Amino acid sequence: MFEYSAPANLLEGKIVLVTGAGSGIGRTAALTYAKHGATVVLLGRTTSKLEAVYDEIESNGWPQAAIYPMNLTGASEEDYASLAATLEKEFGRLDGLLHNAGLLGELKAIAQYDYDKWQELMQVNLNAPFLLTREMIPLLRESEAGSIIFTSSGVGHKGRAHWGAYSVSKFANEGLMQIVADEEDGISNVRANSLNPGGTRTAMRASAFPGEDPATRPTPEDIMPLYLYLMGSDSKDVSGQAFHAQKANNAQ
Ligand SMILES: NC(=O)c1ccc[n+]([C@@H]2O[C@H](COP(=O)([O-])OP(=O)(O)OC[C@H]3O[C@@H](n4cnc5c(N)ncnc54)[C@H](OP(=O)(O)O)[C@@H]3O)[C@@H](O)[C@H]2O)c1
Repeated sequence: MFEYSAPANLLEGKIVLVTGAGSGIGRTAALTYAKHGATVVLLGRTTSKLEAVYDEIESNGWPQAAIYPMNLTGASEEDYASLAATLEKEFGRLDGLLHNAGLLGELKAIAQYDYDKWQELMQVNLNAPFLLTREMIPLLRESEAGSIIFTSSGVGHKGRAHWGAYSVSKFANEGLMQIVADEEDGISNVRANSLNPGGTRTAMRASAFPGEDPATRPTPEDIMPLYLYLMGSDSKDVSGQAFHAQKANNAQ
């Protein structure tokens, strides 16, 4: 497991946007960032789940969160621009962006892969991170040290039979991350890195591996050290790197 011990006030005063914040890893990341002082913008498609995370943040006395319901499947370019305009008006900047929302899609051979399902997955797993990154870069440049985290996967580094669009989307996120990191290098304080959570106890993992005993996998809470490290100032000079939450030795 990646080892990092975050100071309690690591994200004090920071504005952090988390996609897919209503459940799974995104929910835990949102709560963890709020616990460490961040004002978290909770983006997701199921408002009731976002409200539950909002309430949990409030009942713990952490900085008040903001809810931004958005279904990435059908979101238009204008929807992303509206989000940017809202954040600009409310906060004037963004300190962190965690691209976490994702679909698993079909586990099928390419020879059988349905094109509509391929497109739907690419919309959520690849086009959404592209559009969100494009719209958020101006706000991230207003931060002292803006951090973008792209969520990857083991199959984003090595292709595997039947992982189809999911695997391809994660390879593409690695590429997007490297391009953004290179483009911002030397011209802004924005950094971009990718994070592979590794097999983690969530609904997505259970649907990919229905025969697995969930108790054998780490929980989202277990993998938070890397999420904190990449969001906080201890990684401010690290960019363009691929990290693995469940490996002690990483790329940097
Ligand atoms: N768990 C693992 O073992 C594992 C391993 C490697 C990588 N990952 C990656 O880690 C990230 C989180 O995965 P997870 O395991 O936490 O998955 P999860 O439990 O299935 O959660 C996925 C999240 O994405 C949101 N989402 C899905 N489609 C969306 C859409 N169209 N618009 C807005 N939000 C949408 C979901 O919202 P709802 O709750 O409203 O459905 C949910 O909050 C994903 O990028 C995944 O690929 C996970």
